[in-house]
Amino acid sequence: ARLVVLVSGSGTNLQALIDSSTSPDYGAEIVAVGADRDGIEGLARAERHGIPTFVLKTSAHTDRSAWDEALAEAVAAYEPDLVVLAGFMKLTGPAFLARFGGRTLNTHPALSPAFPGMHGPRDALAYGVKVTGATLFVVDEGVDTGPIVAQVAVPVLDGDDEATLHERIKTSERAMLVEWVGRLAREDFHLDDRAVVLGGETD
Ligand code: GRF
Repeated sequence: ARLVVLVSGSGTNLQALIDSSTSPDYGAEIVAVGADRDGIEGLARAERHGIPTFVLKTSAHTDRSAWDEALAEAVAAYEPDLVVLAGFMKLTGPAFLARFGGRTLNTHPALSPAFPGMHGPRDALAYGVKVTGATLFVVDEGVDTGPIVAQVAVPVLDGDDEATLHERIKTSERAMLVEWVGRLAREDFHLDDRAVVLGGETD
């Protein structure tokens, strides 16, 4: 399967996918990495591995919907079977979802439906939960609301701050991402309402 990965930051999730996809048995090949900003480690990781990159900044477009259409075009040029948002800090819009809805995955560093949005680890700490985690889901129009593919639980430990908790979550998040992207790429999948069903379309 052809994979386009979108990043905004350090790209450790991307790195885990790069490392796995070097094995032919993995079933997914990263054909491009896109970002919404320059100068990030995520792009450098792609470049070091000879993976084509592209950058689309919202500020370079007249409005959010023009950016969304440009993003859809840029991704479509690589003809992906799957798109993975790996720490991509922008919401994809209607034009993007019209083309890639149902086959775009995202990870969230909390156990959905708890603590959606930009600050999953911080919000979990502030609430005082003892267990949080990470969620892999199929992107829909909401914020971290799409059909859930997999979740992993991670303990909150005494003395955690946002950084230590987020790092512990990210270790589990990367393992979950690699396992499930490979599985979805090899076996294909479809959505039955909110259920993610392995295997292609059955009709
Ligand atoms: C991940 O925890 C992701 O879920 C969150 O931001 C982090 C990205 O990390 N939205 P990285 O850029 O893959 O290192």
